[in-house]
Amino acid sequence: MARRQEARGATAAPAGSSTLWYKDAIIYEVHVRTFYDSDGDGYGDFRGLTEKLDYLQDLGVTALWVLPFYPSPWVDDGYDVADYTDVHPAYGTLRDFKRFLAEAHRRGIRVITDLVLNHTSDQHPWFQRARRARPGSRWRDFYVWSDTPDRYRQVRVIFQDFEPSNWTWDPVAGAYYWHRFYKHQPDLNYDNPLVWKAMFRVVDFWMKLGVDGFRLDAVPYLFEREGTSCAGLPETHEFIRALRSHIEERYGERILLAEANEPAAELARYLQGDECHMAFHFPLMPRLYLALHREDREPIAAVLRDEPAIAPTSQWALFLRNHDELSLEMVTPEEREELWQAYAPDPQARINLGIRRRLAPLLGNDRRRIELMNALLFSLPGTPVIYYGDEIGMGDNIYLPDRHGVRTPMQWSADRNAGFSRANPQRLCAPVVVDPPFHYEAVNVEAQLASPDSLLNWMKRLIAVRKRYKAFGRGTCELLDADNRHILAFTRRYGDETVLVVANLSRFVQGVRLNLSTYRGRVPVDLFGRSTLPPVGDDPYFLTLGPHGFYWFALEPGPVSG
Ligand code: NOJ
Repeated sequence: MARRQEARGATAAPAGSSTLWYKDAIIYEVHVRTFYDSDGDGYGDFRGLTEKLDYLQDLGVTALWVLPFYPSPWVDDGYDVADYTDVHPAYGTLRDFKRFLAEAHRRGIRVITDLVLNHTSDQHPWFQRARRARPGSRWRDFYVWSDTPDRYRQVRVIFQDFEPSNWTWDPVAGAYYWHRFYKHQPDLNYDNPLVWKAMFRVVDFWMKLGVDGFRLDAVPYLFEREGTSCAGLPETHEFIRALRSHIEERYGERILLAEANEPAAELARYLQGDECHMAFHFPLMPRLYLALHREDREPIAAVLRDEPAIAPTSQWALFLRNHDELSLEMVTPEEREELWQAYAPDPQARINLGIRRRLAPLLGNDRRRIELMNALLFSLPGTPVIYYGDEIGMGDNIYLPDRHGVRTPMQWSADRNAGFSRANPQRLCAPVVVDPPFHYEAVNVEAQLASPDSLLNWMKRLIAVRKRYKAFGRGTCELLDADNRHILAFTRRYGDETVLVVANLSRFVQGVRLNLSTYRGRVPVDLFGRSTLPPVGDDPYFLTLGPHGFYWFALEPGPVSG
């Protein structure tokens, strides 16, 4: 009880809060810097984001994942944290953050923040202190040091286009330090109990303010051990369990979302009920693109068939795109080559082991393919995470450095700077997209709100329909026998809801016979228009689908005869 009281004074979570809220959530990933600039300095800020909460509420979003907004030299766009308990001055103040949080909660929107726990910026006072501290002292040991760059040799370099090694020489310390990402991001040493203590303090700080959860950045890499890949070690899982109980005991229903770019079996280890509530489904994501390219359900079906068991309280977080490159780490080298050829023939669009493009350009700006991929995102087992701007089909700029091409200003209107900022266009944090098919004068929120058939309005309908059926977020998933490999068909079942999803991965019309024998007598009712189809009989159920078409049906009890 005494402990629970620590959370007093925090912004209360939205009314109607229930355990497992994350299973029914619609998460929207947002970058404060590029969303909306309230004061005309060319940088988005918390006041701007707060002003746009009505837009997000209207879209149907129920949770925001906010990219790092802490003081930082921005070598890795904020994933290089220089102070964990403050707000970057360009984004506003802590007070602005608190107001944003309260306003989000008032609209029933939860807020998940990024907890960058594996590394800090080299500008962080902890690192500045460590490099000057006596070797072997507890302050020095906040980070991972070595006299040679030969330790943990078998560990891969993640930013392989930028860093030759995971070790960098520090002339001040006279030693090498370990970093899984940029050399400006030294890894914290979780073998040091003081690091646990320091990070738990950070956790308490944000929990007490009332944030609803943390995305655990780069979570597999907390510990290093010789002879291993230094990913997902038992010690790392032990730390996450400690973190989970710390949070659960004190703050109740907050969540942990694992960012671990690992195979499904590895990911499942975070989802056994006592570590993370959710984990991004990195293996499924590229296979959605593979299935679409091959016009064949098998890459998706194989993932669903082999899905490892996770605790009933755990959940996958599904995504099509995010602020990073579309990662192709979880496919074979042959599949990677195939995906590069298909989706990034221009080498400029490739980076590290992935593709730096947004959803719409990846899919050739083809509305049918964009709808199909979103329909899968919103119906496969898990909680969907939308990347800001993808709801209007925003474009990108592959000529910007690193991954900045997918982090350009949100396109609000056809006005100057896409309505994002009143600043002199030369002052903008990033140039707005002017690539002809994606130019902000054509692709923007204002224009799409005014057009009933716009992608934005279609996304709103998709979200609204999903929210009517708990089966999408909580139901079981059964793959169906379909006699046409272009077609992926599955059911989602929860309580008395049964939703049938049928998706045509091909660019041509297809017919399919589905084995629906379990549902004999049921009537398929289209979830979008409520029209009904003939009841399921003894024969396989025959459906035709247009190019890249999809159906969401409720299988409802038929009229009782006789
Ligand atoms: C994953 C983040 O998504 C990415 O943007 C960042 O560069 C690395 N972790 C390092 O923090």
